[in-house]
Amino acid sequence: MNTNIWTVDKNVENLSESRQIQQAAQALKRNEVVAFPTETVYGLGGNALSDIAIDHIFQAKGRPSDNPLIVHISNREQLIEYVDKVPERAEKLIEAFWPGPITVVLQHSKKLSTKVTANLPTVGIRMPDHPVALALIEAAGLPLAAPSANTSGKPSPTSANHVEKDLNGKISGIVDGGETGVGLESTVVDCSNDEVVILRPGGVTKEQIEEVIGPVKVDPALFDQETAPRSPGMKYTHYAPSSPLVLVEGSQTFFTKKVNDAKREGKKVGAMITEESQGLSQADYEVITGSRKDLSSVAHSLYRSLRAFDDCELDIIFAEIYSENEIGSAIMNRLRKASGGVIIKETDEMNNF
Ligand code: TXA
Ligand code: MG
Repeated sequence: MNTNIWTVDKNVENLSESRQIQQAAQALKRNEVVAFPTETVYGLGGNALSDIAIDHIFQAKGRPSDNPLIVHISNREQLIEYVDKVPERAEKLIEAFWPGPITVVLQHSKKLSTKVTANLPTVGIRMPDHPVALALIEAAGLPLAAPSANTSGKPSPTSANHVEKDLNGKISGIVDGGETGVGLESTVVDCSNDEVVILRPGGVTKEQIEEVIGPVKVDPALFDQETAPRSPGMKYTHYAPSSPLVLVEGSQTFFTKKVNDAKREGKKVGAMITEESQGLSQADYEVITGSRKDLSSVAHSLYRSLRAFDDCELDIIFAEIYSENEIGSAIMNRLRKASGGVIIKETDEMNNF
């Protein structure tokens, strides 16, 4: 299959009428699949009303079919059409954060393809805060199911180039609207029961959510490998670079020591660090992911950084860790998955003496 690249300038007026968006929309109406940028990561979009389109999405990604997709909409009428009801707290979250990086899980109205929801009674739905995404949904006149546009298990794409690397030849096209902003996926919040629960930390933080609707729970499975998570996607290994990734908890000196010890053992070593630690160890390959002074810069470049290690055939990659509040909790959630939960702690090693 020939994969079209439609390059667009996200700042032009009447984007939905542009030739590129019109062509991409036509492909979507034919139940083909098209990747497009959102404010979080690139999505792989398909008509959420069509089993055929949804099959294409799962095939292109190699995604397990029990993992439901998020439905992307561009207006409130679509919300009313595809969900059964909008409880008060969901309404408040939508009012506060849409368009934006929060997905609400609600009972659906049974109009969507059952393959989108993996036969669950609920659907995850969001309105992305990106002019290209909104223009495409409008031009297609369809709700778009869109998982992240990566091969299943790989880091999510934050540029059209990442999508091309994973999916070239497998999809009808890519709308290239430049790099994404947030860099991590949306926050998934289950609002379908009396109790509101964060199923996946993301672009909107727990602190921001609690400012709007008061205390919420976080799915305990996010921190515990034993319990089955309520968001089906969270049970799979994800975001992994092609060399083993190890998280390092402790001082800068401890991090440097870990890198230098591995070097002494003859290993080819990568280090995923912030600006502040640049050049402090003997790592063969350093990737700088933003600055500690602004964790949103770390979120923004996290997936690009994980992908940057792919071409260097390293024996091991050490990554710095972050505090678990605000956007840090989403960063740490992705890093734990990328590392398969492998973390070495300075305190543990001290206790061994
Ligand atoms: O930022 C994002 O959310 C991106 C962009 C493209 O919008 N999309 C994205 O989709 O991350 P995906 O498919 O990679 O992740 C969807 C997550 C999965 O963890 C899935 O299990 C969960 O949302 N999910 C979807 N529908 C659900 C439902 N009905 N109940 C519980 N979890 C659901
Ligand atoms: Mg994904």
